[in-house]
Amino acid sequence: MGKIYKSITELVGHTPLVELTNYEAKHELKATLLGKLEYFNPSGSVKDRAALSMIEEAERTGKLKPGQTIVDNTSGNTGIALAAFGHAKGHEFVTFLEPGVSKEREDIFKAYGVDQYWFTDISPRVKEACETGALNITVLEEDVQAYADKNGYYYIDQCSNEFNTEAHYQTTGPEIWEDTDGKVDIVVLLAGTGGTISGLSKYFKEKDENIQIIGVQPDVYSRLDANNKTGNTIDGVFPIEIGGNVIIPLVNKFNSKIDEIIDVSAEDAYSAAKELVRSDGIFLGQSASAALFAATKVAERPENAGKNIVIIMADDGTKYLSTNLYK
Ligand SMILES: Cc1ncc(COP(=O)(O)O)c(C=O)c1O
Repeated sequence: MGKIYKSITELVGHTPLVELTNYEAKHELKATLLGKLEYFNPSGSVKDRAALSMIEEAERTGKLKPGQTIVDNTSGNTGIALAAFGHAKGHEFVTFLEPGVSKEREDIFKAYGVDQYWFTDISPRVKEACETGALNITVLEEDVQAYADKNGYYYIDQCSNEFNTEAHYQTTGPEIWEDTDGKVDIVVLLAGTGGTISGLSKYFKEKDENIQIIGVQPDVYSRLDANNKTGNTIDGVFPIEIGGNVIIPLVNKFNSKIDEIIDVSAEDAYSAAKELVRSDGIFLGQSASAALFAATKVAERPENAGKNIVIIMADDGTKYLSTNLYK
């Protein structure tokens, strides 16, 4: 029997979990590395889950009216997903981009017919905060909300929207659990809004508090705002904590347990990515590459021999071809 879907909204999730078999052998790892290939989602990233979950909740509760335009501040993947599922469900999408995102992302938004602006266009006070490096999430959210109210748009607010977390609690976590028959020891991932890490932490800690959640963050030289001379950054993600304080609202809101945080440099992430595409033919984006590098270090620890380490591979390399990732 054939199977014909009615909408891309039916294709979100159920992404494959694949063992990095050749890479493990090359590194003589005694732990198992399992990549959760989130780029199998219809718009190409882990953010499809959050976008669909947030849109459907807003439609269900009447916060988002039929045909109403959606707006959000997103440096890429969430915006692409909101545009894709928005259009599939009859909504336009307007985005505010974080300065520094890769050229491919702007081009993709153009292709999706999205109106795109920069953070600096939101309001004079956000512009000033961007220029002085003093931008905080509260100011950003207040001013995007004011913009949405003025224009009659719905501000979906991925950074504080609990249905971002819920998407991973309801889908990503259970998929990993089923595909490993419950044999999960460690989960390694980065955070942007923190939706994935807060959802997975909640899910796995409820299953078994010994399952370790390892957060990975770009080191201080590899953040989008680092202004380093190499231009090597890990895009689409943020530090989880700065100076010992967790800075991601959803992680704080859900009081998420993160067992360890590992700093990774862009250079280490890029070299892990170059290796994996040659060893196993898996073509990663920047955050997935950083997760791979960190997971390799975790796998090398003697106490982790025989353990299953799941790596969230948020997107693939196509959006980063203009960066130094594969150069
Ligand atoms: C490439 C990439 N990796 C990881 C993430 C982190 O996802 P989350 O927003 O769920 O923390 C994002 C988005 O924010 C992303 O675009």
